[in-house]
Amino acid sequence: MTAHVRVRSLAKINLDLRILNKRPDGYHDLRTIFQTVSLADTIDLEYTPGQSRIDIKSNLSIPDNLVVKTADSVLAATHKTGRVGFVLRKRIPLGAGLGGGSSNAAAVLMALPRLMGKPLPMEKLRELAATLGSDVPFFLLGGTAAGLGRGTELYPLPDHPSFPALLITPGIHVSTPDAYRALKRGSTADVTAQIQEFQTLAWRMANAPSTAWDCVNDFEMVVFGQHPQLKSIKGKLLKLGARPALMSGSGSTLFGIFPSRELRDRAARIFRREFAGDQVHSVQLVSRSRYSALWRRQLESVRG
Ligand code: C5P
Repeated sequence: MTAHVRVRSLAKINLDLRILNKRPDGYHDLRTIFQTVSLADTIDLEYTPGQSRIDIKSNLSIPDNLVVKTADSVLAATHKTGRVGFVLRKRIPLGAGLGGGSSNAAAVLMALPRLMGKPLPMEKLRELAATLGSDVPFFLLGGTAAGLGRGTELYPLPDHPSFPALLITPGIHVSTPDAYRALKRGSTADVTAQIQEFQTLAWRMANAPSTAWDCVNDFEMVVFGQHPQLKSIKGKLLKLGARPALMSGSGSTLFGIFPSRELRDRAARIFRREFAGDQVHSVQLVSRSRYSALWRRQLESVRG
């Protein structure tokens, strides 16, 4: 008997991102504020008990799709065998700092064990998520959250209103490992000031319901140097009323958060004259309470 479920897998932006020191394991310690947004992929999952096989169909061909690796790790953790089928409709641009692959992986971690009739404890899901990628554990939580360590140590922040936002993803690919290397962080950097600034910002975000936060993304310095077009998109977002306007992750998406839908829609119309339809996305911030409700509904709809 085949069980089926359709889920939406949301994107994230980094409202703030500070890279501290290089660690002995090759990763970097960082401080970030993750935020889910309403742009989403759709994943249809099917599970049929029997011989193990993983099939994937997608509107985009993605080499080494993280979804397949995730399904493998769920089969191993549940000690089950069977055919797992995916139909993936990608809308979140790939390799653009929006965490699309990581979100898909977390979606499979949450949905597949339920489809198999073998739910895994949250502790186990968190452990598997961290082995799949630094951004994957955040998508088990959603909303606004501070990420510490390599990004997998998470502290939920209070929900703020669903501010309107605009995502601009020009067709520029930035390699994440290359962006980290270009920062040339040492292993013994003095990071006290960076941590203090981050803590002040996190406090303000948690306690003041505005968007005029003093946000920073350390990758902007190196990535804007290589792609000046990105800096001018940021400038334009600020001029059109976005506060803040920032790059997400290691790029190349720029986002702007707007105090009103009118200002956001006006900015969207202006950017659409210059960019293709799939490079400009009007979204809103998705709070943890909405993210949790979405996942509750999605998992309740599992059909056997
Ligand atoms: O964990 P994830 O697979 O997303 O990381 C991709 C690459 O980004 C890593 O191989 C590493 O080069 C870099 N990275 C890092 N420090 C982090 C997260 C990622 O150096 N905290």
